[in-house]
Parts: sequence; structure tokens; C-alpha cells
Amino acid sequence: MAGKIGMAGKVGMAAGVKSDANSLGGTADPDGRPLGVAQDAVGAHLAEQFPDLSDRRLTPGQMGAASSAVAAAPELWTHLIPAERPRRWYALLHRQVNYDVWLLAWDPGHETDWHDHGGSSGSFAVAHGRLVETFRRPRTGLAGTRRVGAGEAVTFGPPHVHNVTHLVGTPALSIHVYSPALVAMTYYTRTPYGFSAFETVAVDSPHGTRAHVHESDAQFTDRDRQAIEDLLASARRGLDRRPVPREAAEAVASGAFLVDLRPAEERAAEGEIPGAIAIGRNVLEWRLDPQSEHRIPEIARYDAEIILVCSDGYASSLAAATLRRMGLTRVTDLDGGYHAWKSAGLPTASA
Ligand SMILES: [Fe+2]
Repeated sequence: MAGKIGMAGKVGMAAGVKSDANSLGGTADPDGRPLGVAQDAVGAHLAEQFPDLSDRRLTPGQMGAASSAVAAAPELWTHLIPAERPRRWYALLHRQVNYDVWLLAWDPGHETDWHDHGGSSGSFAVAHGRLVETFRRPRTGLAGTRRVGAGEAVTFGPPHVHNVTHLVGTPALSIHVYSPALVAMTYYTRTPYGFSAFETVAVDSPHGTRAHVHESDAQFTDRDRQAIEDLLASARRGLDRRPVPREAAEAVASGAFLVDLRPAEERAAEGEIPGAIAIGRNVLEWRLDPQSEHRIPEIARYDAEIILVCSDGYASSLAAATLRRMGLTRVTDLDGGYHAWKSAGLPTASA
């Protein structure tokens, strides 16, 4: 594929749209000014503020200061953002051997997928809106989450593997600094045994060549399109385990929560699991996001062990994957759903 290592590099591209390789493009801003003007401005701004940004690898402190300084100076880059901004828009603001600077625009639903930065260290600062970063913890390999709001920045080292998302709200803007300049990225899948690398791509943006767009009206290519079987398999790969009914019952006895996603009429017709918490699928994320004003405080915790239940264990897998992306690291779903629970002879009750 076009973005693989060793193929003609897209590294020199200055701005573009992530739908396919051919749509990358342009070395001029929307008013026709060459992006070199922005590059010069950002480079000059940083050189003036930080004369010690030499030709060596930047320290975490330098990267954080640089991304924050550019994020706090929108006059350097606001003019680059088109009024009719296409999806997945980004621009390379400055590049030299030891570091580069990117501007990214995010719409709700944008997600980078799990990736590293090819040996580069990095920092990103949010200029507008709010992003959520889920990342691999160094020692345990478990996922941690941090929210990065406007005016905030985070830094990370070469081993860092993360997934950055813009969940809800107004479009977000962020400034990314990498040192040395970003050249390649490796993408990962979460498995029961930890993170498994599956693809390395040459870089044409801080998302590489394969970032996903989740909006329903996105212009999917054939390569992007996923059948429900693929989506389900992908969702389940990200879950550590899927308990069968007896394992779920044991987990509940040890403090796990069962959350029943089935509609009220289905529960009324088929029965319920005693002690399960009924939460409609349409409000699930708002009830379980620890940051949501509509959360259920008792269970809306990032470390809560939650087992989602639907009729047969399909929709619950997709829902669990969504909650994982929100940083709830111990969510999974019941293999076989309510019907398997009932068939196993475990307790049920009338709704
Ligand atoms: Fe990244």
C-alpha cells in the first residue's frame, strides 16, 4: 500500500486531507500563500523564544514548551485553516531534522487508533476543544487515560503507545511536536496478551496513513469500509476476555457490575438477571463516562469492572469496545448474552 515504509515518501507533503493517498495535497494555504511562509513564521517564533532548540534531540520539557508556545500563538497558523475544512485536515507547520511541528484539526469521532511514533518523542498541546488520550502504561501494559483541554499539553517518550480521540463537542485544534522529526509509526492491536504490532507506515501526518474516521457521512474508500463481522472482530480483539455466564457470575460475586443493555420490553418478555443494572444502549456512554454530568456515580469509574449484557452477546461487544475507547479499562461483555446466562441455569427474575 502507498504508505508502507520504503515507498515514495509523503514526508514532504505540507497539508492535506486523510481520505486516501491521492487526496493529500497542497503546499499552499487557502489564500494561496505558500506554506513555507507559515513554516518560516513558526520556526522563527520558536527560535526566538527557545534559542536552545539546537540540532539535537529535544527534551520533554522543550517539546512541551514548544507545542504550548505554538498553540498559544494562533496568529501563526489560524489563516491556514480553510473555511470549508475537509475532514482529517492537518498542516505541517515547521520541519527540521531534529523536530517538526504539526497542526491538527479534529471533529467529534476522530480517533487515531493505537500507535507509536517510530522512535520519536513527542508532545501535543490543545489550542481549542478537548482531546482524550488513552495510553499504554509503561510497567503494567494496562491502559491509562488523560484528558487534555485547551491550554494544556502532554509529553511522551519513544516507547509511548497511545490512541488519541476527540469524543464530543466542538471541533478541536492541537499542535504536535516530535523529536526527531516524525518518519514512521507502528500501529497496534490490543490483545489479551498485551499490545501487538501489526503495521508500520511511513508518515504523511501525525496519524500516519491509516487513521480512521467514524462519522457516518465519511467518504469511505473500499479499504476503509468494514463489514459488521470485521467491526465485531475488531471490537472483541480489544477486550481482555469475554466471560461465559459462570465466570460472569463469579466476577459479580467479587464485585463486578452487570449492565443489561436490552430494551425494557425485551427484559419484560424474557426476564432479567437479579442485581443487573439496566441502562439503555442509547444513554450508555453518558451514564458510564466518569466525566459526564449524567453518570451513575456508583459505577462510572475508569477502573470499575463492568460486564455488559445484551440478548446474545453481539451488540454488547461493540458497546464494550466504545467504552474502552473512553478509558474504562475493565469493561467487557458476557459471551452469549442473557440467553446463555439463562441456558446455564443461573438465576433470572421477572422484570
Ligand atoms: Fe500519536
